[in-house]
Amino acid sequence: MLLENAKDLAYAAGKILREQLYSDFTIEYKGEIDLVTDADKAAEALLTKAITTAYPQHALLTEEGGKLGNPDSQYLWVIDPLDGTTNFAHRLPYFSVSIALLENGRPIIGVVYNPIADEMFAAEQGYGAWLNDEPIKVSQTPTLKQSLLCTGFPYDMSVPNNNLDKYANLVKETQGVLRLGSAALDLCYVACGRLDGFWEMHLKPWDMAAGALIAQEAGATVTGISKEELDLTAGEIAATNGLIHQALMEQIKS
Ligand code: IPD
Ligand code: CA
Ligand code: CA
Repeated sequence: MLLENAKDLAYAAGKILREQLYSDFTIEYKGEIDLVTDADKAAEALLTKAITTAYPQHALLTEEGGKLGNPDSQYLWVIDPLDGTTNFAHRLPYFSVSIALLENGRPIIGVVYNPIADEMFAAEQGYGAWLNDEPIKVSQTPTLKQSLLCTGFPYDMSVPNNNLDKYANLVKETQGVLRLGSAALDLCYVACGRLDGFWEMHLKPWDMAAGALIAQEAGATVTGISKEELDLTAGEIAATNGLIHQALMEQIKS
């Protein structure tokens, strides 16, 4: 029931993104590169209203609006209304709506929807992961050398640990390292075997909460980077098909 509701929310927000993609949306800059469009705001407004109306006793964490709702609730909806906003602003059709429901800090429901490809990735903790209702699982690629990976970079490249050195290193050790531009969708691509692994530092909880659950439920190994256990508030994530995880971590840490 909760999963179906989350999917309906993602479809509704995705419809807004699809309609706005070819309109004259306005772009505002939060930083030199970090931007927000009308579409981010409209999709977030729809999701916030729908969730606070349907679940007034729950809490909410959204990218543009921050924390809302009941701060004492054990249930927290973590939402990125448009993950891949730079792609969206360039009308490049790789972006998503990401919605997770956390119970006591752990994701129990995750949906990531690409409204252009009409691909709905979904997972429920303990029950598996699906792409458009078909079960998905990670790849069987056995080695790093045979792997296609994906990563991402922070908006502010002057931060320490901006990932460029790790990227340069791993490009030489794999079949390729892509930067696709929607961490939520990148994690789902690991989940369904299109990619063998993904890592990024400096993410926010809404970039990874839903995708991490979807990857885990599809059989991925999902960890932090400096610490083994994934902490959604620590910014770092590594997700692989499991077979290449140790080799990837060794390269990232070398
Ligand atoms: C960004 C995307 C991108 C990742 C950035 C995120 P946004 O989210 O997930 O892939 O590399 O770190 O901030 O700003 O498009 O919602
Ligand atoms: Ca994001
Ligand atoms: Ca966003």
